[in-house]
Amino acid sequence: MDPQKPTQAPKKKRIAVVPGDGIGKEVIPEAVKVIQASGAAVEMADFDWGADRYLRDGVTVPPDGFAMLGCDFDAILVGAFGDPRVKTNVHAKEILLGMRFKMDLYANVRPVRLLDAALCPLKGVEPKDIDFVVVRENTEGVYTDAGGIFKQGTPDEIATQEDINTRKGVERIIRYAFQYCKENTKLDGSPRSKVLMCDKSNAMTHAGGLWQRVFKEVSGDYSQIAAQHMYVDALCMQMVRDPRQFDVIVTNNMFGDIITDLAAGLQGGLGMAASGNIHPGKTSMFEPVHGSAPPIAGKNIANPFGAILTAAMMLQHLEFTKEADKIEAAVLEAVRQKKTTQDIGGSLGTKEAGEWVAGNLR
Ligand code: NAD
Ligand code: IPM
Ligand code: MN
Repeated sequence: MDPQKPTQAPKKKRIAVVPGDGIGKEVIPEAVKVIQASGAAVEMADFDWGADRYLRDGVTVPPDGFAMLGCDFDAILVGAFGDPRVKTNVHAKEILLGMRFKMDLYANVRPVRLLDAALCPLKGVEPKDIDFVVVRENTEGVYTDAGGIFKQGTPDEIATQEDINTRKGVERIIRYAFQYCKENTKLDGSPRSKVLMCDKSNAMTHAGGLWQRVFKEVSGDYSQIAAQHMYVDALCMQMVRDPRQFDVIVTNNMFGDIITDLAAGLQGGLGMAASGNIHPGKTSMFEPVHGSAPPIAGKNIANPFGAILTAAMMLQHLEFTKEADKIEAAVLEAVRQKKTTQDIGGSLGTKEAGEWVAGNLR
């Protein structure tokens, strides 16, 4: 090393923070507070994209907004979008689905973990029984907006909504799920061993057929991993009857959306569920599974733990493993000591619950 040259401090990772609407604006500041308390070497920059901005100046995503996020940031932390004043939901579509589609964040990874038996509505289920992950295709399916309305307002009106499934899109998400299974352990350190593909190929034969063929083919490359299948309707029943059986579930965009709200119910509700929208090697986006919850917004009652666990997931992705583990441990402790919001049995407000976790880290 050149003795004349001062050693440079390692560059901090940069995070774009987009709280969005409703409770997004309450839970994300708590997640930010916790990230700061964790000591992770990051810099955060706020963006006001959301309903207020859209209603003020008509802008959903500023010009080149996605290119800017991709170039200038290592990750994006998002709250939620949806506001009763924007009936068309156009801003949510352009911002949230815009990030997923235009930044090609094809893997929506939604871990389902029970932190405490008291949070699960099922009888006799322990934390060790619920530790699975849903890998949801995030750039295709019925979310592409292909379709149209014809003869609107007449008795002959026709609405179509196409389900787009590409060979490339289906293969990469299935491969992602197998790779995830291979590379990740359960919370207790035991290996993951099963990938289950969930579809509706008995009724939706064209798309389902492609998923079936690709699943079979890709599973051949992972002989150590058990490949299983379930129709989505049966899976919903099994998730409530016996969630112990699940490990890694891979599915399309819409089924992934629906089953992860169901799965959030097993974890203590939407306030506890975290997610990442990932394209390996690209700037990825992290958001709690819940929405903007307009009826409870502005009341300091929303559960911030989904957002805080999302922040931990993001830090893990950025290789701040120690900080991520510390945050998860602090949330677990808060749950055990009932230092939580009312939805999961405590008596704290959003800010106080966030502050408790941050204080535990400090
Ligand atoms: P929601 O997730 O906002 O709320 C569903 C239910 O869960 C409500 O009873 C709500 O009070 C409760 N809930 C959600 N998050 C909570 C939290 N952190 N703490 C305590 N309780 C919580 O879903 P919704 O009511 O169907 O949708 C409301 C708006 O949010 C809509 O505009 C919808 O499109 C939007 N939405 C956005 C996202 C997103 O941006 N990622 C996700 C889902 C819904
Ligand atoms: C989610 C949400 C979104 C989705 C909505 C807001 C478009 O429900 O992230 O789960 O359906 O993907
Ligand atoms: Mn959803």
